[in-house]
Amino acid sequence: MRNLLFWLLFSSIVFTCSAPDKSTELLVNADFEAIEVDLEDLFAAGQFPKDTLITIEHDEFFKQKKRYKAYPLAPILKPLLAKIKDTTNLRVTFTCTDGYAPNMNLSKVLSHEAYLAVQDLDQVGLGKDWADSLATKFKPFYLVWRDASEGDAGFAWPYGLAEIRIASFFYDFADAFPLHNAAAQKGFQLFQIHCMKCHSINKIGGVMGPEFNYPKSITEYWKKEDIYSFLSNPQSYRYSAKMPAVKLSREDFEEIYGYLKAMKGVKSEK
Ligand code: HEC
Repeated sequence: MRNLLFWLLFSSIVFTCSAPDKSTELLVNADFEAIEVDLEDLFAAGQFPKDTLITIEHDEFFKQKKRYKAYPLAPILKPLLAKIKDTTNLRVTFTCTDGYAPNMNLSKVLSHEAYLAVQDLDQVGLGKDWADSLATKFKPFYLVWRDASEGDAGFAWPYGLAEIRIASFFYDFADAFPLHNAAAQKGFQLFQIHCMKCHSINKIGGVMGPEFNYPKSITEYWKKEDIYSFLSNPQSYRYSAKMPAVKLSREDFEEIYGYLKAMKGVKSEK
């Protein structure tokens, strides 16, 4: 009898010890699930690091040297990454209040000095975060980089940044990727850098500008040369166009156009 009791006790201890640990249960496989956080919620929950004063030698928006009150991004991202099983090949998408949604490789984001700016310290009006004309579009956060080289389109400088999304490249971009057309993959990459933050393909990408593939491909109703000249001066087509001019070499445009054509036959209704 004593032996039996001992075994019951012993086996229940073994059982408890081998039960899955709660922290591993929460792990997400970013190939199948994305992590998405609302930055203001995270801030309200006290999950932000201490703010700091930073100097940006060349600000992409203001085109000059700027000083901000800001929060470093890496300590905000790291606790989120602790939930992901495999952190290689992940993309970070910065979702903004105006539909702008640029994305970058997580490793690139983490190997540079990104900050979430909340106050322009060069402001004359004390007690204000941003100039009156900018406040609505800049809040809640403006993403800046201390070490991005001037004019490098590979760095995103979104304002009105509200959410951060982390997922594997294939989880988020499969429907826009020309998997079976290797020749169009370079064009996809260029489209991703220069256009996808505002335009979508099969509903993947930003919603600031129009969708380009679903249900009709833009190549079916815009002439190739018009797309090319629209890029360098959208306002020469529509005085009210909200698209800023995009500088692109003819070769890069050819690659992007090739990608848009290739996607014509690849629709996803998701
Ligand atoms: C910063 C955001 C932004 C970026 C980056 C951007 N666009 Fe646009 N684009 C827009 C907006 C907004 C419109 C709607 C224009 C308007 O207001 O008339 C637009 C419109 C267009 C149109 C006209 C489509 C139509 O049917 O009206 C074309 C063509 C176009 N964009 C091509 C591109 C290409 C190609 C790229 C990348 C090389 C690109 N755009 C990058 C925001 C952007």
